[in-house]
Amino acid sequence: MRTLQVALAERSYPIHIGAGLLDTFPLAEQVRGNQVMIVTNETIAPLYLERLTPHFSGCQCDTLVLPDGEAFKTLETLESIFDALMAKRHSRTTTLVALGGGVIGDMVGFAAACYQRGVDFIQVPTTLLAQVDSSVGGKTAVNHPRGKNMIGAFHQPRLVLIDTDVLASLPQRELAAGYAEVIKYGLIRDPDFYHWLETNNERLLSRDTEALSEAIYRSCDNKAQVVADDETEQGNRALLNLGHTFGHAIETATGYSKWLHGEAVAVGMLMAVNMSVRLGWVDAGLEAGLADVLAQWQLPVATPAGMTPDQFMDLMSLDKKVQNGQLRLVLLRQLGEAVVTADYDAGALRQTLEAFCGT
Ligand SMILES: NC(=O)c1ccc[n+]([C@@H]2O[C@H](COP(=O)([O-])OP(=O)(O)OC[C@H]3O[C@@H](n4cnc5c(N)ncnc54)[C@H](O)[C@@H]3O)[C@@H](O)[C@H]2O)c1
Ligand SMILES: [Zn+2]
Repeated sequence: MRTLQVALAERSYPIHIGAGLLDTFPLAEQVRGNQVMIVTNETIAPLYLERLTPHFSGCQCDTLVLPDGEAFKTLETLESIFDALMAKRHSRTTTLVALGGGVIGDMVGFAAACYQRGVDFIQVPTTLLAQVDSSVGGKTAVNHPRGKNMIGAFHQPRLVLIDTDVLASLPQRELAAGYAEVIKYGLIRDPDFYHWLETNNERLLSRDTEALSEAIYRSCDNKAQVVADDETEQGNRALLNLGHTFGHAIETATGYSKWLHGEAVAVGMLMAVNMSVRLGWVDAGLEAGLADVLAQWQLPVATPAGMTPDQFMDLMSLDKKVQNGQLRLVLLRQLGEAVVTADYDAGALRQTLEAFCGT
């Protein structure tokens, strides 16, 4: 087992990473009260729920199995979590355990932030995306019909428990989507890691457990540092959004159904790098190399058919990073150095959109 620390003073917590931790990690010791509610979904419950419950045989352990899908990341589902907690009389010292991907993690984290004005929660992420990104950093939310993640809170977990073995059951498409966020860390702040990923691409693609575990560790290390530096995204945390402004436009345009988040981010990162090339900040070899790796992971390198530059501009104007009407984008100054800036040639943005939309 390897352990990282998210350094946030009194809200600091560990990230434990290892094979088989679902069974072997002494989870009960991490619980302060004598009540636990494990929340998961109907896909993950039959696979892993019974591995967790025995840890809590010494206390009141309730389980809640939610329907699976981003479509259920809603206030309505949140209410069903509160209903279950109330029905089982959970008190302020209860601990919620989020067993699942980012959807479960975001929703259970938000439930923990709200229930009785805040209770403990533990992240047990089961997708690559959740292991390298969403379970670390304390952003929690549900969706509103008019916008993704629009209702939420910052609420840090007590710990993050990453059992790398659970990836064995993850569909390849989901693994690839999570991998897009792994590449992101290399691009924005860790050139050594980026080169390591290039060198080890074959091993990672074939799910070599040691390589995957190293990629998870180094991703979490990067995320932990960014979060420790800027917990509530007043500054540098926004750099984690490389490719996300383009990606969110794609997710919105495709109704959050056809494309996975990581897939939209993959082509979004390529667009950001393409624009950085046009601005003369990075060389075209970086873009070509990235396109190559994405293609090997069968991640998209083109925008959805039919999307136009105007549609992108329109959807991107709703981005959270718009300030005073200025669209700020995360771009690369060089490999490993990202900036968030509104100070770019608008012509380069237009050219990138036109190149990717084939217009
Ligand atoms: N809080 C953050 O900082 C943050 C960051 C990035 C993304 N997110 C959020 O994360 C969500 C996406 O997360 P995700 O990609 O994990 O999607 P997800 O939670 O929907 O999981 C993807 C699918 O894989 C299934 N699954 C999960 N673990 C499995 C396993 N081990 N074996 C087999 N199947 C498994 C799930 O049931 C689901 O069907 C989005 O809602 C996004 O907004 C949050
Ligand atoms: Zn993301």
